[in-house]
Amino acid sequence: MTTLGTPLSPQATKVMLLGSGELGKEVLIALQRLGVETIAVDRYENAPGQQVAHHARTITMSDPAQLKALIEAERPLLVVPEIEAIATPMLEELEAAGTVRVIPTARAARLTMDREGIRRLAAETLALPTSPYVFCDSLAELQAAIDGKIGYPCIVKPVMSSSGKGQSKIDGPADVKTAWDYAMAGGRVSHGRVIVEGFIDFDYEITQLTVRALGAGGQVETHFCDPIGHVQVAGDYVESWQPHRMTPAALARSREIAKAVTDNLGGQGLFGVELFVKGDMVWFSEVSPRPHDTGMVTMITQWQNEFELHARAILGLPVDTSLKSPGASAVIYGGVEAKGIVFDGVADAMRVPNSEIRLFGKPESFTKRRMGVALVHDQDVEVARTQAKLAASKVKPHEA
Ligand SMILES: Nc1ncnc2c1ncn2[C@@H]1O[C@H](COP(=O)(O)OP(=O)(O)OP(=O)(O)O)[C@@H](O)[C@H]1O
Ligand SMILES: [Mg+2]
Repeated sequence: MTTLGTPLSPQATKVMLLGSGELGKEVLIALQRLGVETIAVDRYENAPGQQVAHHARTITMSDPAQLKALIEAERPLLVVPEIEAIATPMLEELEAAGTVRVIPTARAARLTMDREGIRRLAAETLALPTSPYVFCDSLAELQAAIDGKIGYPCIVKPVMSSSGKGQSKIDGPADVKTAWDYAMAGGRVSHGRVIVEGFIDFDYEITQLTVRALGAGGQVETHFCDPIGHVQVAGDYVESWQPHRMTPAALARSREIAKAVTDNLGGQGLFGVELFVKGDMVWFSEVSPRPHDTGMVTMITQWQNEFELHARAILGLPVDTSLKSPGASAVIYGGVEAKGIVFDGVADAMRVPNSEIRLFGKPESFTKRRMGVALVHDQDVEVARTQAKLAASKVKPHEA
């Protein structure tokens, strides 16, 4: 049975978010609504989630000593990773010592922190269908992998990266060196390892949000949201919609794969399982053991959005994954490199029928940094997509 406390009192239920971007901000808001005492951690000050939490802490989360010192000082009930670049072996140590519970588990955080752990688990341990792949540590190894096993076209990605950083498609021999150099420049930690994957010629890709939450008897039950369709440009999400229409066979297969991966990762919480679909065939791509960027659409399509589902699930509370209305999301990019930017056109954007605009409050804008999102609900998903893109285009960020 879950008992919740009073924040800022000795009885507080304390939760620490490791990473406080736009996704963490919404999880924090959901926790705040339940009277949870929240600690928002990020690598820079005034991160979006830090602006809505009880406490803000700024540390280097990939530094095990800093991470340990902070967790031991704050003693939260739960530690909730929101990003991948965290000293996860330290989380495993602290979890094993009983100092803290990590969401969904410290092992899941470690396995999903780079592409290798999760890919080997899915393909080699669980025998799930994935693209063919090879891990390489040099340009020569990359070329050999392509010549030997993978072929053209293929995709190269740094083992440690997200949002498409350092990722590129190789169409022929002339692209190999460029792709390698690009991966070396774009990886999060420059340890020079990449994955090369055979290109899957899918019809569409989806995110299958999957929730592991406690049932009335205290046992973990798996719940599925309606599939989310999305478009990625250069490996970064630009629009998403829900539901994405699928054949019953492809949907059933998607959920089978999502169940297998999330059962193995274990714990409680929401997961974003990324899948490629062609006809009735489904490939596992990757999984986030936390809310997914394409799932921001659920802020307008579900009775309980993905952030509320995560907050409930981690606290041992019941969840409802049902759809409220079909809808869509479209990303608002910064378009400029500047601090303290201003946004024109918000009123025009909000005049688009059935729309909502969220601005994340990031202190600094980059051309391709996600600064906000437009959300639209409509009975017709295609109308929602068009209108969400229209609303997003009306918001004009610029230097002050
Ligand atoms: N093997 C592949 N075949 C075809 N398309 C692919 C393949 N791998 C990746 N992609 C495309 O690139 C996108 C990003 O890839 P992936 O999810 O692996 O990268 P990422 O950097 O983790 O992105 P994000 O953090 O946004 O999820 C995918 O959603 C898909 O559109
Ligand atoms: Mg992805």
